Amino acid sequence: MPTRNREGHRRCSLAVFPGSFDPITNGHLDIIGRGLSVFDEVTIAILVNPEKHPLFTVEERVAIIRETFPGEDRVRVDTFSGLLVDYAERVGASVIVRGLRAISDFEFEFQMALMNRRLNPRIETVFMMPAESYSYLSSRLVKEVFQLGGKVRDLVPAVVERRLREKYGSVPPASPPPRRRGRGRVR
Ligand code: PNS
Repeated sequence: MPTRNREGHRRCSLAVFPGSFDPITNGHLDIIGRGLSVFDEVTIAILVNPEKHPLFTVEERVAIIRETFPGEDRVRVDTFSGLLVDYAERVGASVIVRGLRAISDFEFEFQMALMNRRLNPRIETVFMMPAESYSYLSSRLVKEVFQLGGKVRDLVPAVVERRLREKYGSVPPASPPPRRRGRGRVR
């Protein structure tokens, strides 16, 4: 919803939704949808972290997210490195949106929100809860389940499922290797 400043000029509310998005899940989409119901624009900001070894490169994650939101001009995709609050300030966002799935998320998120507030009190963190059906969903679990032959269809956008297939090849059913009997050497 556009707000107006003291002079009556229209001002857009911009929220940054930061994360690794390796890959984006339906839980993230849920939070983005909720963000759009409160803010004019949501910028999905992918952290570029050279110390992490993601499955998808930053470029792949940008492309995946762009493909997930075709023609949605209120959703932007960007990358950042360094401090999140500095990035938010730079792009003119006054809000950081984070999803809270369960109490277990709370401690880390609370710590991060307070540190970000200390670093830049002008940027507010807003927590949003995804639908309960996504409360167990994480990018890490999606990758693990897919790699082991499990279905991820209702957990990620179709483009992610396709990209996972391209990355891992067609995943064999998750059956354990045959057990060797006798005294033959195991290699
Ligand atoms: O999806 P993730 O991995 O939970 O996202 C974590 C993220 C990117 C939000 C967080 O690591 C972050 O903001 N990193 C940027 C560096 C920074 O600002 N650190 C201080 C935050 S207290």
